[in-house]
Amino acid sequence: MQGTLAKLGLRHPLIVAPMAGGPSSPALVAASSSAGALGSIGAAYSSPAAIEEFTQNVRARTDRPFAINLFIQHPQPEVDAATLERAISETAKYRAELGLPVPEFAAPYEEDFDRQFEAVLRARPAVLSFVFGVLSTEYMRAARKAGMLIIGTATTPEEALALEESGVDAITLQGYEAGGHRGIFDPSAEDSEIGIEDLLARSLKKAKVPLIAAGGIMTGSDIRSILARGASAVQMGTAFLATSEAGTSAPYRAALAGVERKTRTTRAFSGRFARGVENRFMNEVDAGAVMPFPAQNKFTRDIRAASTAKGSPDFLSLWSGTGSGELWRGPASDLIARLFPA
Ligand SMILES: Cc1cc2nc3c(=O)[nH]c(=O)nc-3n(C[C@H](O)[C@H](O)[C@H](O)COP(=O)(O)O)c2cc1C
Repeated sequence: MQGTLAKLGLRHPLIVAPMAGGPSSPALVAASSSAGALGSIGAAYSSPAAIEEFTQNVRARTDRPFAINLFIQHPQPEVDAATLERAISETAKYRAELGLPVPEFAAPYEEDFDRQFEAVLRARPAVLSFVFGVLSTEYMRAARKAGMLIIGTATTPEEALALEESGVDAITLQGYEAGGHRGIFDPSAEDSEIGIEDLLARSLKKAKVPLIAAGGIMTGSDIRSILARGASAVQMGTAFLATSEAGTSAPYRAALAGVERKTRTTRAFSGRFARGVENRFMNEVDAGAVMPFPAQNKFTRDIRAASTAKGSPDFLSLWSGTGSGELWRGPASDLIARLFPA
């Protein structure tokens, strides 16, 4: 590990990605950190009380450093009655199939960022990481004062430069290969679709802080190759989705099984681009009937939960990167040992 990241005292230049919505269990975060990587709590959808409980749960299992990750909040979108009507009628057949009532739907569409941030300050993890933009000066100062290392996420060299100028300690470069939400700053912007090698090469010319490469990194040789290209560390999500500690649900695990996973990006689940395994919901929902993030995310939550409860992958967000190969199904510590052979 180089530069400020060395302060963390990690044995391996690996961040096990925050994976909000289930996969990042306290057991996975703690196992990753105990094995010499940096485990990450995906707290984006968590209430302040849940953030506190999760953190205590991790601390009960490990005394090694870990990160807490948040989604930066943008002004909440206006959802007019006609748009909501369209979204309701577009999804009516799925709710009927799953035996769900038409939802009561109103703002707020997500947890209050200010309260989440206060909970993170109280929890004092070694690292605060975030996606979807630049943290305000006031929050940067508060995080710094609490002794946290600050890591932002960029999908373009321009976003990396903006993060560096904001004073972050390191930047996660999220290549187009990456599973889960694209960290694009502007929620309504098109995706620049830059792959990790290109993004790293171009960002190295602009940013001086350590760059952490993410997207499609699956093996020890992938890690060595991207470190040789100038990355200070890697961040891996998909490779850890099927580990024994991950909170990944049974139908999600089943959809990830096999060597090849056909993935693409979609706005259908949350209103923001995210990469996942193709399924019925992704293929059928008309893009014109999708509300902006995070309204769509809240609107589809009951459908996703019912799909999981039924054991069906049809209406689930099956976030996954483009990386191929069987996913490791044993303990995360064994996967980390395989990625970094002595
Ligand atoms: C299931 C899943 C959930 C994710 N959730 C988050 C999240 O909450 N916050 C975040 O910064 N990144 C999240 N990501 C993206 C990862 O940080 C990282 O960019 C990605 O996993 C790297 O690509 P890979 O999946 O090919 O390894 C998620 C990825 C996956 C697969």
